[in-house]
Order: sequence, then structure tokens, then C-alpha cells
Amino acid sequence: MDKIVIRGGERLIGEAGVSGSKNASLPIFAASLLTEGENLLHNVPRLQDIQTISKVLKNLGVKVHGEGNTYRIDATEVTNEEAPYDLVKTMRASILVLGPLIARLGKARVSLPGGCAIGARPINLHLMGLEAMGAKIELRSGYVEAKADRLKGATISFDTATVTGTENLMMAATLAKGKTVLQNAAMEPEVSDLANVLKKMGAKIEGVGTSLIEIEGVESLHPTEHTVIPDRIEAGTLMIAAGLTRGNIKLLKCPFRHMETVILKLRETGMEIEPEGEGVRVVGTRRIRSVDVKTQPYPGFPTDMQAQFMTLMSLARGLSIITETIFENRFIHVNELQRMGADIRIQGNTAIIQGVESLNGAKVMASDLRASASLILAGLAADGVTEVSRVYHLDRGYEGLEKKLAGLGANIRRVKEEG
Ligand code: EPZ
Repeated sequence: MDKIVIRGGERLIGEAGVSGSKNASLPIFAASLLTEGENLLHNVPRLQDIQTISKVLKNLGVKVHGEGNTYRIDATEVTNEEAPYDLVKTMRASILVLGPLIARLGKARVSLPGGCAIGARPINLHLMGLEAMGAKIELRSGYVEAKADRLKGATISFDTATVTGTENLMMAATLAKGKTVLQNAAMEPEVSDLANVLKKMGAKIEGVGTSLIEIEGVESLHPTEHTVIPDRIEAGTLMIAAGLTRGNIKLLKCPFRHMETVILKLRETGMEIEPEGEGVRVVGTRRIRSVDVKTQPYPGFPTDMQAQFMTLMSLARGLSIITETIFENRFIHVNELQRMGADIRIQGNTAIIQGVESLNGAKVMASDLRASASLILAGLAADGVTEVSRVYHLDRGYEGLEKKLAGLGANIRRVKEEG
């Protein structure tokens, strides 16, 4: 297993490009199951999770060919309806093949994803919606077994906004008989990117980007070509790297308009963030101001930026309060930040952060994707050397983050961890 070694204190200066969005790519890969023929996708990030969804699709008989950031996905032949446990357990977003498989084949056998470090991650809302559309669902020996002659349109109301739940049901509805209405649908940009791909495939979808999505089922969809939107979470992570090091960077291909709340909050801390030519200029400040944050579904402050923002607040002047409303256990990074000298107290789903003058480099361990990013960010600003182990978590969702940071002047390198 690799580790990342950082000597803190370098100001980040220069330019970095934002990669394509992981959380837009994953459902779009799954959507290829709805078409016969070759889909051409550009700006796909080279990530572990993309490897995993590719394996899941290949296991279903789909042809997947990646060259750089371009993927050709041909689902003319779907010869299997099973997404096995050993693949799904490595990435719960594999559940995104469930809806398309039922729509395409009328059946699916997908391993229950199970929980992960940040929470139980149930899929009851996915299953509720599919049953409302006429699917017969059984849970047997850790698998979801689903059957439907042909799904029929239904009105589905989510009691909690769910990103992949909205995506699964939107994909299933494209080939259902009649009209499906999704109420309290997730509005994340990644959901909209998927909807735009489905429309290019011939789907009839209204309300893209709103919490009320209407899908009129059609007989079939055709393959398409698409460029995946940039990753707003990677962009936000790089912005905080500049904020922590009094840096002055320019981000290229930055999805500025998908980041309104994040940019608002970062400006409140004292950072300057403005569009500049084709990119976005991000300037850190000497005195980081304390700002409170509460995670919310889009367009609120994203839970996927919570750990990174906490690192910034650990060096702010004063006291800040961060409330995590989406997942029940997304403070795993706190213990490791405390070991670096951060002053953080947890009360239920609230973290109270008293900013400190400086953090000390230390050996720390990553626990999940965004926690690993928050520890690397802490290392950039800490006195001395920080070693982040178990960076396979990082490789799931960041395309060469340490290379991008080194390109901006950070003293950071990846080393093979013996044993
Ligand atoms: C997506 O996960 C993202 N993953 C997550 O990003 C992100 O943190 C999350 O949305 C919230 O924005 C992908 O898009 C692949 P949810 P998802 O369903 O869809 C509850 C990352 O770091 N819920 O929107 O699994 C659930 O427990 C990852 O890139 C149910 O109760 O999240 C949670 O409390 C981490 N029943 C809330 O809804 C359900 O059937 C939101 O979860 C589904 C969800």
C-alpha cells in the first residue's frame, strides 16, 4: 500500500486542471446498459472507482475500452444480469446498474452494497421506487433479486433526497411504459449531467436540475457521445489547498457555477475566488476567518467537502461549528486531525473547531475518500513532515492529486509502503 509524504509550509502557486467528475461518470457508465451500440465518453477521470464500474459492466457482457480520459462503452450484448458481491463490496455505487438492468433485461441480481466507513448507506428508497414501478424485489443471501416484465411509470416521492436513488430510478423510468414523476429528487449537478446524457440517448425528461423530474418512457434509447462535467469536489479541495497555504493558484476547467455555496463560504473565510479568463483565480489569506457550515443536499454545502473544510477551520482565527446532516459517521478524520494538533470537539453530528496557530506533521491514516483528502490538506499547512497511509482511499476519487499539488509547488511525494 502506498503512502503520501508531505513537508508542510510551501505556498501553492501556479495552475492546475480540474479532472472530470467521478460522481457524474459512474451513473453515466451505468446508463450505457440502456443502449445497444457504442457510447463515447470524454473527460472521464482515471480513478480506481472507474476501474471498478468498468469491471462490473464487463462482467455483464458490456465492452469497455478506456484510452486516457476517453472511454468507449458498447452494451449491444448484455449476457448476464448479476453484479457480484466481490465487486460491489469495493464500490457501493455499483448499485447504479440495478435500474438500467431491470429496464433493459427485465431482471437483475445485484449484491446489496452494505455500509461503508461513513454510514449504513441503505438503498431502501431505490427499492421502494422500483417496486412502485412494478418490479418484484426480493432480498436473498445478500443480493437484491429483481424482476419486471416491463416497468410502468409511477409517481415516486423520496422522503430523503438521494443522489444515486434519483439516478437509478431516472434511468429505469426512461424505458418504462408511461410517465414517472420523481418528487424531492436530488438536484446535484451530477444528476443533471446524467439526465442530459439520457436525453441525448433519446429519453424524454423534464425538470432537469430541479427536485421535480418527469420522465416519459420510450421504446428504446440509442448510444451517444458526451463530455463529463468537471469535478466540483476536486475543485473545492484544490481551492482549500490554496486557502491553507496563503497560495495564489489558477484552476482550469473549474465548474464555478456548480460551486456557489462552497465559494460563498470560502470567501467568508477571507479567500479571494474570481473567474479569470478560462479559469478561476484562487488566493489564500494570512488570516483565515472562522465560518460555520452545515452540510445539505445540493445546492447546499456538500457533505463531500465537509472534511476538507474542517481542515481549513482548524487553522482559522476563532471558533467554528460544522454540522454534518447527511451521513451519520462522517467525522472519522477528526481523530487524525487532533493527532496533528487540531482542537476539535464532537457533539453528535456537530464538530466544534477552535482554530490553532499551527498543526504538527504526524503519521496519520486515511479512512475514507474525503478524509484522506483532508489529511493531505492538513499536511500541506503543518509544521514538519506528515505521512498519510492507506492512500488507496484517495485513489478511488482523485486523479493524481499529489502530482497536481506538487505541480503547484507542494513538497509532496508518493512512496511505496513496505510490507
Ligand atoms: C452520493 O452517494 C455520492 N456518491 C456520495 O459521494 C455523496 O456523499 C452522497 O451522494 C451525498 O451527496 C455517488 O454519487 C457515487 P445519498 P449516495 O443516497 O447516493 C440516505 C464521495 O465521496 N438514503 O444521496 O449513496 C443515506 O443514508 C461519495 O464521492 C437512505 O436512507 O448518497 C444518506 O443519509 C461519498 N435510503 C442520505 O440518504 C436510500 O435508499 C443521502 O444519501 C438512499 C439514501
